[in-house]
Amino acid sequence: MTSVLETSGPVVLPALLLCDFGHLAREVGRLEAAGAEALHLDVMDGRFVPQLTYGPVVVKAVREAAKVPLEVHLMIEDPERSLEDYCRLGAEIVTVHLEALAEPRRALAAIRDHGARAHLAISPGTPVTRAEPFLDACDGVLVMSVEPGFGGQAFEPQALDKLARLAAVRRETGGRFHLGIDGGISTETIAAAAAAGAELIVAGSAVIRSPDYARAITELEALARAAT
Ligand code: DX5
Ligand code: ZN
Repeated sequence: MTSVLETSGPVVLPALLLCDFGHLAREVGRLEAAGAEALHLDVMDGRFVPQLTYGPVVVKAVREAAKVPLEVHLMIEDPERSLEDYCRLGAEIVTVHLEALAEPRRALAAIRDHGARAHLAISPGTPVTRAEPFLDACDGVLVMSVEPGFGGQAFEPQALDKLARLAAVRRETGGRFHLGIDGGISTETIAAAAAAGAELIVAGSAVIRSPDYARAITELEALARAAT
C-alpha cells in the first residue's frame, strides 16, 4: 500500500475521538478494514483545550493495534515537553499548535530529529501569516476548521481561505509541506476543503457516527477526489 504521506490526492484520516474506547483495538481494526490509510489521534490536556482525552498510554495501544500511520494532534500546553515521547511511540506525524509554542522552529526541528514528520496546526483565530515564517520547517500545516477541543462541531468556512492562501504560498515558494484540515468535515463540506487544497482531511463524527465506516470513508474520499 502506498503510504498516505506519499499520495498526491486527498485522503481521509478518521479521528478516533468519538469512537468506542471500551473496544479500542476493535475500532482500529474496523477503521483499517474500512479503508482508512491513516488515523488521527486527538491528545487534549484539559488546559490548552477544555477537554481531557488521553496521552501516551493510549497512543501506544493504538500504535500496537494499528498497521497504518498515525497522526498525533497535540492540543496540550507546552507540547515541547512530550514531543519525544510521542515520536518514540511511533507516530508518523506529530502535529503541534502554533498557539502553544514558545519556539515553533525549535519544536518542529525536535519532531524531525526524533524521526517523525512535523506538522503545524493553526486554530481558527490564528492568521496564516503567523505560520508563514515556519513553513520551511514543517512537513505539513493543519488548518483547524473548528475551535479545537470537541468533535461534532460545525465547519468554519474561513478555513478555506487559509488553505487557498497556503496552497498559493507553497506554489510560489516551491514548498513541500502537506495541507491538512480538521473539524466539521462531512459530505457537505469535504469537496470545498479538497478544492481549496486540503490533502490530509481529518473526519471524526462523519465516520464514527456512521453505521458503516467503509461507506462513510469511501463516500468522503470520492467527493474529495472529484473536487480536485
Ligand atoms: C477537534 C479535533 C478533531 C475532531 C474532529 O478538536 O481536533 O480532530 O476529532 O471531529 P469532527 O470531524 O467531528 O469535527
Ligand atoms: Zn484533531
